[in-house]
Amino acid sequence: MQPSEKLLLYNKAWVQDKLELDNKYFDALSADQNPDFLWIGCSDSRVPANEITGTDVGEMFVHRNIANMVIADDLNILSVVQYAVEVLKVRHVIVCGHYECGGVKAAMANKKLGLIDQWLDHIRVVQAKYQHELDAITDDHARFDRLVELNVQEQIMNLAATDSVRRMWASHQMPSLHGWVLDLRSGLLKEVVTLNPPGSKNENPFPPAP
Ligand code: CO
Repeated sequence: MQPSEKLLLYNKAWVQDKLELDNKYFDALSADQNPDFLWIGCSDSRVPANEITGTDVGEMFVHRNIANMVIADDLNILSVVQYAVEVLKVRHVIVCGHYECGGVKAAMANKKLGLIDQWLDHIRVVQAKYQHELDAITDDHARFDRLVELNVQEQIMNLAATDSVRRMWASHQMPSLHGWVLDLRSGLLKEVVTLNPPGSKNENPFPPAP
């Protein structure tokens, strides 16, 4: 059997499982979606948004790209954010990075890689911004881990600067923005930063005090 055939076979079994629990499952699923969360994560195969958060089908709107970037002129992510925030009205947006991120590692290595360099340059901008802090970390792996965290923090700031988030903050005092990092060595998510809408009761200073 081809590996791809296995996936189709699994799909049939999944449908059976769902129908056995609820024979109207797909009627409800096809009618509408009302997710509370937008997930912006890395494309890395080891960071499956639903699986690591225990969220079910329909609970999370998902966008993934290399190194979970929010880039101001990327029409793809801006459209996802606008739709999720303004139309679906998600209450929480999560930017989730992960240690051992190949995108961050490639950006740090500073080798010429072709087309993808245009994407990785946005990570190199983060690296340059925090060069002083990063240079002070003598352990290579600890410096790599820290850039992963700083990158998530920067993407949260980029998200906060989008028209969609600003509009919804002004009119609805939502969504909250959460920056997380998945530690692949333990499987645990680490909270790096939370940014609540200005004026909301949970508003907190940003960037966080060290
Ligand atoms: Co990654």
